Amino acid sequence: MNTLEDFINAIPKAELHLHIEGTFEPELMFEIAVRNKRKLNYQTVEELKLAYDFNNLQEFLDIYYSGADVLIEEQDFYDLTWAYLQKIHAQHVLHTELFFDPQTHSSRAVPFSKVISGIHRALEDGREKLGISYRLILSILRHLSEESAFQTLQEALEYKGWITAIGLDSSENGHPPSKFERVFALAREEGFLTVAHAGEEGPPEYVWEALNILHVSRIDHGNRSLEDPELVAELVSRNMPLTICPLSNLKLKVVRDRINHPIADMLEKGMMATVNSDDPAYFGGYLNENFLEVARALSLSREQIVQLAKNSFTASFLDPDEKRKMMEKIDRFYQLNPV
Ligand code: HPA
Ligand code: ZN
Repeated sequence: MNTLEDFINAIPKAELHLHIEGTFEPELMFEIAVRNKRKLNYQTVEELKLAYDFNNLQEFLDIYYSGADVLIEEQDFYDLTWAYLQKIHAQHVLHTELFFDPQTHSSRAVPFSKVISGIHRALEDGREKLGISYRLILSILRHLSEESAFQTLQEALEYKGWITAIGLDSSENGHPPSKFERVFALAREEGFLTVAHAGEEGPPEYVWEALNILHVSRIDHGNRSLEDPELVAELVSRNMPLTICPLSNLKLKVVRDRINHPIADMLEKGMMATVNSDDPAYFGGYLNENFLEVARALSLSREQIVQLAKNSFTASFLDPDEKRKMMEKIDRFYQLNPV
């Protein structure tokens, strides 16, 4: 158990930034496309994988949304989610908080009920059969209108018991968090927590807006916060979690090269940074591969890896008792597996 890979694989950890549509592996995509008699723009799995070469967020999103087009039936959403849960079970991920994008499907006349029922049924099976706890986050597509966001939130109210938080994703530049101030105010009134992607490509100002206008409990990405020392101080004083996605940052060129990934700097500054996989089917790795990437590129110590694993539970929406149990599990693991 002394290699870095083994240590990362076995340490108990949680995932807090994961788009379920971003776990759609090409093989399953082709299988479901055939089942639903839909044509993909690519002839083979290999051809599709060759297209996974992005220069920015938008180039990725175009391919990500077109992949999701073949998801139609409740069973499709079940199969997608179940495949993800099996993957993370093998990686010793004990808890996951995942996003789903209902507007990606409602725009194709796939009803909200089918999307959420398939995902929820798989998550419940994962909890019972694999022992993976979860929270579900409905993410609003920020390139669409406020009206569409309100409509989606309205549909979600019927499934309130299944959804913990409302998030904000998709094309960041030109779509500041303030565009959804009223939607998020209603979401909070209805008892949802809030999170938002901010500072991935967008400026530090968007992170300020997520904090002060959307009243988020976590910032998703938040890399560009480092450009604003006042913002860094604010994030530290609030102990505000940032859900960092190392392989995503490399694939979407948010970070220029691996040794300059900002997560080490964030930890040094006392920020509550966590490691996550974002869209693992598109970015070349699930949670272990993301831990391994930063551990290698930044020569993280075992202590820092333990800190990141602990952060993943601290920053989660688990209740304090559950968090305490997870911390104990990590401490026990580290005692049994010192360097
Ligand atoms: N950023 C914004 N929207 C997204 C992402 C992301 O990294 N992944 C899936 N939708
Ligand atoms: Zn994301």
